[in-house]
Amino acid sequence: MSNSIFRKKSISVIMKDAAEGLDDGHGTGGLKKILGVRDLTFMGIAAVVGAGIFSTIGGAAYHGGPGISLLFIITAVTCGFSALCYAEFASRVPIAGSAYTYSYVTFGELVAWIIGWALILEYAIGNIVVAISWSGYFNNLLVHIFHIHLPDWMLIDGTTASEAFREASAALAKGGITDAAVLSKYQFAVKAWNEAPLIGNTHVFFNLPAFIIVGLITWLAYVGIRESKQTTNYMVIFKIAVIIFVIVAGAFFVDTNNWRPFMPNGFKGVLEGVSAVFYAYIGFDAISTTAEECRNPQRDMPKAMIYSLLICTGLYILIALVLTGIENYSAFKDVNDPLAFVFANRAPWIEKVISVSAVIATTSVLLVFQLGQPRIWMSMSRDGLLPKRFQKVHPRFHTPSFATIITGILVAVPSLFLQSGLMTDLTSIGTLFAFVLVAGGVLLLPPQPKAPGKFQLPYINGQFIVPILTGLFIYGFRERLENAFHNLGSAAQDHQEILFLLFVLIAVILAVLTLLKKFSLIPILGVVSCLYLMIEIPTKSWYMFLVWMVLGLAIYFLYGYRNSRLHTALKVQK
Ligand code: ALA
Repeated sequence: MSNSIFRKKSISVIMKDAAEGLDDGHGTGGLKKILGVRDLTFMGIAAVVGAGIFSTIGGAAYHGGPGISLLFIITAVTCGFSALCYAEFASRVPIAGSAYTYSYVTFGELVAWIIGWALILEYAIGNIVVAISWSGYFNNLLVHIFHIHLPDWMLIDGTTASEAFREASAALAKGGITDAAVLSKYQFAVKAWNEAPLIGNTHVFFNLPAFIIVGLITWLAYVGIRESKQTTNYMVIFKIAVIIFVIVAGAFFVDTNNWRPFMPNGFKGVLEGVSAVFYAYIGFDAISTTAEECRNPQRDMPKAMIYSLLICTGLYILIALVLTGIENYSAFKDVNDPLAFVFANRAPWIEKVISVSAVIATTSVLLVFQLGQPRIWMSMSRDGLLPKRFQKVHPRFHTPSFATIITGILVAVPSLFLQSGLMTDLTSIGTLFAFVLVAGGVLLLPPQPKAPGKFQLPYINGQFIVPILTGLFIYGFRERLENAFHNLGSAAQDHQEILFLLFVLIAVILAVLTLLKKFSLIPILGVVSCLYLMIEIPTKSWYMFLVWMVLGLAIYFLYGYRNSRLHTALKVQK
């Protein structure tokens, strides 16, 4: 055992620590093992289908047109590679820490910490976005079905309100607005601003429904996995039924002319939707955080991840085609509720069904993520990287109680005040980063003999396929590559293109290594495809991601490094 930041834990030590943790010294009996493959598949779908398809997809459709269906396929393939790598780990290390634990085994403590820290972006920060979307759909329901109007200042964050007010006042002052819908939107923004209560000179805005729903979901996650599982199953059945219904009903309104041109803003326009589309897929990995509550994790978790991803992919591709077939892509500008939007004038009753379903769908995402985050923290705490209280299991409810409450606070309070846009990107980068390391980690795992009932990632020799694919990629992107090189060092250089050059460099290095070392194809494609999606996310979000990572490193060196169980065990040995 070394005292370096790259010290690793073997799978057997991790399993032993978890077994001790299950007992947790308080005689709680640990977590309840009640989940089977159907529950896990439902949990995967619960976590995947939510704000992405009900909200963020609108912006992606506006930029990419019908071509976003292609992006749904590309992203699904990328997620598929990652899902297979997650499945391999899940069958070898069935522990609640998910990618964090997997990295501890393969890359060592520092990388594991970094991943644990990045996963906060996926789960907690991701859930802030979901809570804000939930609030939007919930308000829609209140207004259109129950005719209840809450004051606007308790439905929105201050930044969005002040931006809308500034834009609206400038536009109204300029005059000449002929479009009634635009005029009413501007008048609405000004009215909302003027009606907000004042503290001193500050107009007060907050998103109360987002806060309340996170509170309620946290309570559910706190009182038990059985209750959470049952609620999840009902919600998933309902939302899948509605999505299938939308696809079938929507097909009757499709005008195939809207599919031409397929990519109105070229492939570049399609790629602007990367983060939104990837966001729609995030969640299947959340299943891996419930490993210690599964009856047979090594058999069921891999299956459930793959099943849920396949089901969601099929639904997403169809939804993307139906959406962009019903309405011309240009109509989706600033549309945050695209599914409801396309039916608003065609079949208002369907719009209502969608609004109800959006609330339910986003509730289920909230629940699974709110379950996932505390379980990762529980694993980190067992390793000594977080204070001991995070591993505390409630004696009656058998859930990680303290960590669940902290997750609730961490999500609920920011969802009152924050704007969701930037956080979608941040969530996508954090998750892709975890995917890259999980896929890369699989390359470092020692081969193991086939065991019946346990998932095993098939080995396909990447020796020739990876270099050929890399060559084809470079050929396909030669113009972009030339431009990026050409502008290198000049004022015209876009930071996004530096990321692109870095990506090409890494891809070439990996191709050479694969040629020499005969790396397994699936994990290599997982690493490269996730890296590619990452570099397509705007650099503005990368800066925030880097700041987040630096903060994480500071916490590790101030706390985790010294308190790590491996560190303290080493001191005892001395
Ligand atoms: N995939 C999840 C959603 O779309 C995060 O809400």
